[in-house]
Amino acid sequence: MKILNLGSLNIDYVYRVDKFLLPGETKSSISMNTHCGGKGLNQSIAAAKAGNEVYHAAYLGKNGEMLKQAMADNGVNVDMIKDHEETSGHAIIQVDDNGQNCILLYGGTNQCLTKEFIDDVLDKFGNEGLVLLQNETNLVGYIIDKASEKGLQVALNAAPMNDKVLEYPLEKLSWLIVNEVEGRQIAGCDDDNYIIDVLNQRYPKCNILLTLGSRGACCYADGELHTIGCHKVDVVDTTAAGDTFTGYFLYGMLNGCGIDESLQLATTASAICVGKNGAADSVPLKSEVDAALAEGKFDKLSVTVEKK
Ligand code: RIB
Repeated sequence: MKILNLGSLNIDYVYRVDKFLLPGETKSSISMNTHCGGKGLNQSIAAAKAGNEVYHAAYLGKNGEMLKQAMADNGVNVDMIKDHEETSGHAIIQVDDNGQNCILLYGGTNQCLTKEFIDDVLDKFGNEGLVLLQNETNLVGYIIDKASEKGLQVALNAAPMNDKVLEYPLEKLSWLIVNEVEGRQIAGCDDDNYIIDVLNQRYPKCNILLTLGSRGACCYADGELHTIGCHKVDVVDTTAAGDTFTGYFLYGMLNGCGIDESLQLATTASAICVGKNGAADSVPLKSEVDAALAEGKFDKLSVTVEKK
């Protein structure tokens, strides 16, 4: 099944530091590199590298040609990316000695979507497929309404989390994709063990994918909770690990792999991603993921299934 990603595009300015900056502190970075990123772009590239048919729709700023080129080079259809006079979105990313990151966003053209643009894109995409969204663009609630009216499946990765998410018509989603921080905030609970229960009660028709960093991930669908752990790897840079997980997981679900195999694919793809620097550049090809699984590069992780 094809994917339409009405998603964000960012130029990532990545600064290596030993430790993150503290308030009031000034220090020199160890290095600075520019990468293609944005949760939308990373997820499109991940799903396309996994083997899905992916269409990305967005506005591209004056300085953003490399973003469009990176998607095209990785097999994403870019016909619905339109030029815009604003500058493209960007992210200032610090990556520390543990490979963890902190990210400051500038929205740029990601925040310039119009209802006319969205209506036109949805018309062109047709009535079959899945619309993928992140919370780095404007008009997310409008897109959920319009796409679900057309009978399209809608998946929202509610990242980065903010109060607007609580106003979106989340009950219309086919998939809500969150990490533990986003999940706790949407569910309004402090304990990760209750996130799925609360979200399921509130949005009973929505499947939930909850990623838990180094603790793994779980997926709730059709009355069953599927849980997987995480491979132990040397972490270089965690940027785009969640996006890789999302792209690979959706590829699996849309191509008949089933939940357990989709979780295994996504977990292995993310484990490879965190071993490399950068965002979209660090998303592995499906052949690398298949080889890693076949060669037993990582311990095989089993999935437990519990009725809920
Ligand atoms: O998820 C990683 C991404 O978050 C980065 O590429 C950055 O652009 C921000 O959108």
